[in-house]
Amino acid sequence: WHHNALSVVVVGASGDLAKKKIFPALFAIFYEGMMPKHFNIYGFARSNMSDDEFRDLIAASLTCRVDQKEDCGDKMEYFLDRCFYQPGQYGSEEDFKKLSDRMTETEQHQNKADRVFYLSIPPSIFTQVAGAASKGASSPSGWTRVIVEKPFGKDTESFNKLSADLYQHLSEEQMYRIDHYLGKELIENLTVLRFANLVFEPLWSRQFIRNVQVIFSENFGTEGRGGYFDSYGIIRDVLQNHLLQIVSLFAMETPTSLAAEDIRDEKVKVLRNMLPINMDDVVIGQYKGRNKHGVKKPGYLDDKTVPAGSRCPTFCAMAMFINNSRWDGVPFLLKAGKALKSRTAEIRVQFRHVPGNLYSAKLNQDLDRAANELVIKIQPDEGIYLKINNKLPGLGLTLDQTKLDLSYSSRYKTHLPDAYERLILDVINGDKRLFIRNDELEAAWKLFTPVLQEIENREMKPELYPYGSRGPVGAHYLAAKYGVRWGDALANDI
Ligand code: BG6
Repeated sequence: WHHNALSVVVVGASGDLAKKKIFPALFAIFYEGMMPKHFNIYGFARSNMSDDEFRDLIAASLTCRVDQKEDCGDKMEYFLDRCFYQPGQYGSEEDFKKLSDRMTETEQHQNKADRVFYLSIPPSIFTQVAGAASKGASSPSGWTRVIVEKPFGKDTESFNKLSADLYQHLSEEQMYRIDHYLGKELIENLTVLRFANLVFEPLWSRQFIRNVQVIFSENFGTEGRGGYFDSYGIIRDVLQNHLLQIVSLFAMETPTSLAAEDIRDEKVKVLRNMLPINMDDVVIGQYKGRNKHGVKKPGYLDDKTVPAGSRCPTFCAMAMFINNSRWDGVPFLLKAGKALKSRTAEIRVQFRHVPGNLYSAKLNQDLDRAANELVIKIQPDEGIYLKINNKLPGLGLTLDQTKLDLSYSSRYKTHLPDAYERLILDVINGDKRLFIRNDELEAAWKLFTPVLQEIENREMKPELYPYGSRGPVGAHYLAAKYGVRWGDALANDI
């Protein structure tokens, strides 16, 4: 394949995602020498822009890091020279044909050319763009792949419609559905940790694990995105996709191989084995304004783009259960929130007590807190650590809880690639391991649609929490109901 030319088209080229993530990722792939030799980048959007203006727009989003070599500036110039812009209407096959003609010119020195379309556009126009692009600009000689990103519908019904509509223009094989959490270093490592070490997998079940927590928190609100956010809410924005994907990778059985279909077969089984979510296990919250030490922080409802009186949750905690022999009865506690005290994403695996612990009188805390805990820190400060009990050195016998600590910044002095770099590269290489299959989404919506409907029907009011706080106290009651405590810093101040 790498002898073929490659064209990458970013549809919605002047959008936020394109500027913040897609162009920098494309440049990084090129910088690392992973781009095919003959490549071109195309921007496609409605506004009129010349190639030069487009290059300026991209240049503004690229930086050379200090650890990059001096040649970074030259490489950037070379990269920008390979960028072109084509204005057009999103639904216009004609305009995509014009794009295709220009692409053919730049591709023509190769016999074959492959094309990637990144649909960085609102979901309301996914289908028309997929149609126009596939009719007007599919590669005549190589493969054509299309990257789409959530939201993939709002519930089962809208998802089914979107999915059926897209299948009219694209095959499953062509479609790459991104969940960028799957591109994060520590998430890719999750299967390595489980399946390339002897010491974890035998413990990976209800027999030894008491509960699993998947936690996402941000220390900023939805400022500027309120309009989008309000029609989705945190459950669709984070839980239904990022957190659920993590759970399915975490909990799946050993796949037959590392092939994409083998892995996704196992993931989807987990989703299908999940029990319906009990509404008593769902806590929702919304942040309100806070004025602390003279610093004013706006509440969710203060955003002009948010409809007055919106009940949209910006926080949600819930317990989920996987009804299979490995996980029966183990609560998977998910928690996600905006405008909280700190920014973190982590998986916490809390193990059971040591039965008949010889040292229970010597522990410096109660049995509960002294149980082992494995923490996979997705961000920031990427790392993996295992809380263990250890004798305090010296005379006497007191135990101390401490960590076997693998911190990435001290162990690997290397820059971690952004999730989008890995994922776009995978698209170019045709590797679907980290992309979501249609049946996974179907199963995910089947779990979450009833919850979302209940929240609507009951007109459930979110519990208010101040901007920058630890979130609604209801989340603690939820954990307490299962006899456990949240382990993250938000809950414990560590
Ligand atoms: C996106 C959500 O999918 O993920 C955002 O729509 C959220 O609301 C973002 O802020 C978080 O991604 P990351 O990579 O910054 O943790």
